[in-house]
Amino acid sequence: MLQTPPLALYVHFPWCVRKCPYCDFNSYTLHGELEEQRYIEALQRDLAAQAPETAGREVISVFLGGGTPSLFSPGAVGRFLESAGRHLALAADLEVTLEANPGTIERGRFAEYRAAGVNRVSLGAQSFDDERLVALGRIHCAEETRRAAAELHAAGLDNFNIDLMYGLPGQDARAARRDIEEALALRPSHLSHYQLTIEAGTVFAGRPPVLPDDDTADAMLAECRERLEQTGFGQYEVSAYAAANRRCRHNLNYWSFGDYLGVGAGAHGKLSLPAAGQVVRTTQVREPRRYLSLAGRGTFTRSPVPADELPFEFMLNALRLVEGFEVANVTARTGLPWEAVAQTMADLVGEGLIVASGTCYRASPLGLRFLNDLLLRFVPEIARTAGQSELSTAPPPPPALAGRALFTGVGGGNVK
Ligand SMILES: C[S@@+](CC[C@H](N)C(=O)[O-])C[C@H]1O[C@@H](n2cnc3c(N)ncnc32)[C@H](O)[C@@H]1O
Ligand code: SF4
Repeated sequence: MLQTPPLALYVHFPWCVRKCPYCDFNSYTLHGELEEQRYIEALQRDLAAQAPETAGREVISVFLGGGTPSLFSPGAVGRFLESAGRHLALAADLEVTLEANPGTIERGRFAEYRAAGVNRVSLGAQSFDDERLVALGRIHCAEETRRAAAELHAAGLDNFNIDLMYGLPGQDARAARRDIEEALALRPSHLSHYQLTIEAGTVFAGRPPVLPDDDTADAMLAECRERLEQTGFGQYEVSAYAAANRRCRHNLNYWSFGDYLGVGAGAHGKLSLPAAGQVVRTTQVREPRRYLSLAGRGTFTRSPVPADELPFEFMLNALRLVEGFEVANVTARTGLPWEAVAQTMADLVGEGLIVASGTCYRASPLGLRFLNDLLLRFVPEIARTAGQSELSTAPPPPPALAGRALFTGVGGGNVK
C-alpha cells in the first residue's frame, strides 16, 4: 500500500548575476532591479494555494535554491519563512538550507540570514583555481569563497556545504585533488562533488570546451573520494559526502522518494495520495515574469505519475544512495508490489550491477559507474525487452524521456 512519506518544501529563486555557460537550471541573468518584494508575495500566494493539500503533515526541511537565492535580502527570506510557518506545520528541528553564491555575500549577511531562520548554507565554490573560475563564467574568485566560509563560521553557521565541480577544462587529478584540499581547509560539514556535464541548450553545448577524457575523470573521482573518506567525509550519494550526522536531510528525502512541495518559478513538487493510490507531480510556470503575475492562481500543472513509470522514478532516486533502499520502501513509496521490479532487480544482481544484502538493494561500484545504463532498464519499454540488450547497446529511451537528464551528477532533483 502507498504510504505518506516525509514532506519537504523546495523554494526556487530564478535570478543570477550572470548565467553560467554550463548551467541548464531554470535561472536567468538579472536585468535591472530585483523585484524582491513582488517575488516574495508571489511565493506566498503560490504556497497558500498549494499548502492545503498537505494539511496536518509535518515539513522536515526547507531548501531555498536557485538560481541565486542569496541575491534576496535576509529580510525577504525571513518574510517568506514566516509565512511558511503560518501555512505549514514546520518541524521543531526544521533544516533550512540557503544556496549562496560567494560573489553575492556582503559582510555580516550570513548572521542576518541565520537570524531570519536559515540554519544550513550551500556555497557554490566550484573550484579554487581562479583561471578555471573565469573559464566557467563564475562571478567570484577563490578568495571570495574563503571569505564567505569565514563569515559562515563567524555567524555560527558551521553546517555548510561546498559545491565543487571536477572534470573541468584543463584539469588533471592533481588539480582536482587540490580543490578538495582547499575546500576541506574551510571546515565545511558537507561536500558536493559534481562532474561537469555539458547540458543541451547551454552555451557550452554550442561551443564545447575540451574536457578531460573519461579515464582522467574517473581517476579524479577515485582520488578525491579517497581523500574525503580519509578525512571522515563519507560518501552517501553519487555526488554527496558528509561529516558524521551532517547528511543533507532535504536531499535525502528526494533520494528516498519522499514528498515535497515545490514553489517558485519552474519548481517541481511530488505528493503521495494514498486514498487515491496515486503519486502526483506538480510543475510551476517556468518563466519568472509569467510566474510573478500568475502565481497562486492555480497555474501549476498537476499530473499523476503513470504506474509503469514509477519503478524508474523510484530507482532514479534510490539507487543514487550508496546504501540503496529497503525492499519495503518500493511498495510504501510507489504503491506497487515488489514483483513490479523483482525480475529486473534479479537480472541486475546477476550482472553484478546491483548488490542484494538482506532486505536492502544498492548499486555495486560497477552499477554506480554505469548508473545511466542501469536506470534505463527500469524505463517501461526497455524493461519489457529485458535480457535482450547488453548494457552498452541499451536502446535509446522512449520519446517521453528522450533528452531528459537521467543522471547528470547534479543532486537534489529540482528545477532542471
Ligand atoms: C542549482 S546550482 C545552484 C548553485 C548556485 N547558483 C551557484 O552556482 O553558486 C547547484 C550546483 O550544481 C552544480 N552544477 C550546475 N550545473 C552543472 C553542470 N552542468 N555540471 C555539473 N555540475 C553542475 C554546481 O556545482 C552548482 O553549484
Ligand atoms: S550555476 Fe548557479 S550561478 Fe550559475 S547560472 Fe546556474 S544557478 Fe546561476
